[in-house]
Amino acid sequence: MVKALERIDNRIRLLRQTRLPGEVIYDDLDDYREIIAAIKCLDVRGAPAIGIAAAYGLALAAAQTDASNYEQITPLAEEIKVARPTAVNLAWAVDRVMTRLRDEKPQGNEAVLALLWNEAETIHEEDRRLCQAMGEHGATIIPDKARILTHCNTGVLATGGIGTALGVIYTAHQQGKKLEVFADETRPLLQGARLTTWELMQAGIPCKLICDSAAATLMRQRKVDLAIVGADRITARGDVANKIGTYSVAVACNHHDIPFYVAAPYSTFDEALTSGDDIPIEERHAEEITEGFGRRTAPEHIDVYAPAFDITPAELVTGFITDQGIRPGKRQASQVKKSSQV
Ligand code: MRU
Repeated sequence: MVKALERIDNRIRLLRQTRLPGEVIYDDLDDYREIIAAIKCLDVRGAPAIGIAAAYGLALAAAQTDASNYEQITPLAEEIKVARPTAVNLAWAVDRVMTRLRDEKPQGNEAVLALLWNEAETIHEEDRRLCQAMGEHGATIIPDKARILTHCNTGVLATGGIGTALGVIYTAHQQGKKLEVFADETRPLLQGARLTTWELMQAGIPCKLICDSAAATLMRQRKVDLAIVGADRITARGDVANKIGTYSVAVACNHHDIPFYVAAPYSTFDEALTSGDDIPIEERHAEEITEGFGRRTAPEHIDVYAPAFDITPAELVTGFITDQGIRPGKRQASQVKKSSQV
């Protein structure tokens, strides 16, 4: 199975996701600034994978300074934390490593670095297990012959394991269920078209690529049994930040009485926030819309609004697939209908 990133000695081998699916390129990084750059340009992306990259980045950063002096590590940790604002996993991972450092107070360069690498690897390995658990819980709500719509990329490339929403799909497929997946292309950076279809084709799971604006029509044609997406941050009341376009999927699901599930590990839940309106939403460069992938498709000097994420209010979520089990959402219970019933 392909990996988004892994530790090789004291370097991080990272798959350049911006080059997929055309080229499969791995680079070995040993400078924390390269990790920050990779997070910012989306060479590594997806909430859990960003958190893992940040934790490894902190170990690299400490190796580039006097690690025995915590005061020197703190500003580097802050620099890594702000690489992207929306996925809470990033700050969560950095804070977790720094908390362990301050609690255990190792003395001397070697001991500090050993602790930082160890905690990063622990976060990585833990995420692999969280994905397995989400997959197993989530598969219980997937009927045989289900036709599932998903948005963005939430699989192997986005996590330390099999994924969140895609992990549920992989698990149901492994259990022998026959599935069909509709993958939204996910404008403007096409994580669905470039990454999700690539992953699903390798796994041998039937998959159809659709443009984002086709999703509601498919639902109206009764070709979708349920939608499952991932999340970048979920507030205490259950509002969900995820890739721009997710809200439209949730609204369309609600209108057509189709269940809408969000799959996420505990590291994506931000109990400190209540309302989704308080989640910082990343805005991306205009060029990602006006000349995505190198071809200009809008007039020069056009004004652009480019939020990378949107908020789906808790009232539109049927349920949360977590590593602990299925948590009901605030939307009135809607059963997954077997495709043979629709
Ligand atoms: O901008 P991206 O590609 O990092 O956005 C990723 C998403 O929105 C995913 O749906 C989310 O991180 C969940 S990934 C398991």
